[in-house]
Amino acid sequence: MPALPRDRFSWSADSPPPLPPHGSSLRIRTVQGEDLAELERVDTEAFPKNPYSYLVLRQFFDAHRDDLLVLADGSALHGYILVSRPVNGCSWILSLGVARDRRRQGLGRQLMVEALHRLHADGAGEARLAVDPANEAALGLYGSLGFVAEGKVHKDYYGPGEDRLLLRLLL
Ligand SMILES: CC(C)(COP(=O)(O)OP(=O)(O)OC[C@H]1O[C@@H](n2cnc3c(N)ncnc32)[C@H](O)[C@@H]1OP(=O)(O)O)[C@@H](O)C(=O)NCCC(=O)NCCS
Repeated sequence: MPALPRDRFSWSADSPPPLPPHGSSLRIRTVQGEDLAELERVDTEAFPKNPYSYLVLRQFFDAHRDDLLVLADGSALHGYILVSRPVNGCSWILSLGVARDRRRQGLGRQLMVEALHRLHADGAGEARLAVDPANEAALGLYGSLGFVAEGKVHKDYYGPGEDRLLLRLLL
């Protein structure tokens, strides 16, 4: 597996999360009950083949709301990230999605960096995730943050035809 792309930015516990653009009302916060319909919309837009059902999103909210961050501007959600609590120092990035019309504006990076800071503060020493090896946007983002691939592509990782590469970042 070739090295993931890296650019000028690499995540570090010492560098603060990037701020939203000046004058922007965008804010990262934990999910609230009234976000669920918007969360379903953004998730379906991000993962049209395999969206979470409203039922699953409700269960995440009931059981894991502190681990689900949304990027909101007061009227709409534009992205979200779902992580797992550290177990033996390891946390998983379970899902990350940005609304189609807001991609390539730094929002995915903001969500990831905020989540990594929170995980580090919670005692996580590493973050792991699974990514479609054909997902160039996600590979570009994760590589630029310093994630590295663990081994080869896992065939049918999420079921038939859903191969995934596992990535890891030491925090
Ligand atoms: C992957 C995703 C979350 C990235 O979010 P984003 O807000 O568009 O990303 P950002 O604007 O923060 O970009 C951060 C870096 O990612 C990389 N990147 C983002 N989009 C890219 C693209 N289309 N092609 C190549 N690299 C890309 C670049 O390195 C970029 O840095 P740069 O803008 O300085 O070059 C978004 O494309 C998305 O929601 N995709 C659908 C859901 C998904 O695939 N989630 C990840 C599952 S593992």
